[in-house]
Amino acid sequence: MNILFVVGSTRKDSYNQIVANYLMDKYKDNYNIRQVEIKEIPMFSEDIEKMNWPIVEKAREDVKWADGVVIVTPEYNYSLPAVLKNFIDWCSRGERVFMDKPVMITGASIGYWGSIRAQGDLRRVMRASGVKAIVVPGIEVYFPQIQDSIEDGKLREDKAKSLVKNFEIFVDYIENIK
Ligand SMILES: Cc1cc2nc3c(=O)[nH]c(=O)nc-3n(C[C@H](O)[C@H](O)[C@H](O)COP(=O)(O)O)c2cc1C
Repeated sequence: MNILFVVGSTRKDSYNQIVANYLMDKYKDNYNIRQVEIKEIPMFSEDIEKMNWPIVEKAREDVKWADGVVIVTPEYNYSLPAVLKNFIDWCSRGERVFMDKPVMITGASIGYWGSIRAQGDLRRVMRASGVKAIVVPGIEVYFPQIQDSIEDGKLREDKAKSLVKNFEIFVDYIENIK
């Protein structure tokens, strides 16, 4: 099974990257795992969308390759970061690579609400007619005050239980529809 990770933060020491790293490391021998590079994707405009952008093509190929996509996002001003929305906008044009793709959404923030508003907005975006991903229902994992759940640059084992449980529900879902 091919699992693609998308991290909505490009920050060097990103907590959301640390959350993604936890799953990528734990399941590296069970699944084919990749992370899509979204940092250098140009800002979407209809004026440039037909031009040749190898980085956009690679990102679209990564989504096509995946049996399931895990999105780990911070919250920026109560919503999802522009870099993540930009990646999804590119993927909603042309071949529409997210169509019918199972998606798991999670995220971390240093605030009390653990990216809940960003995740809510992201769920809405993933339902848009150009995206039409299948955000697997019932999967909700939030990491409030994430800074307290990190030790030595890693997500603490005792803080990862819900993440692991929900990820396993996600891969079971993919198995059952394959
Ligand atoms: C532009 C900006 C807006 C932010 N808005 C929110 C917010 O609405 N809610 C929240 O909980 N944290 C917010 N934060 C704080 C983030 O939770 C924090 O920067 C977090 O570390 C970002 O995730 P990362 O570590 O993966 O980069 C914001 C941070 C930035 C830079």
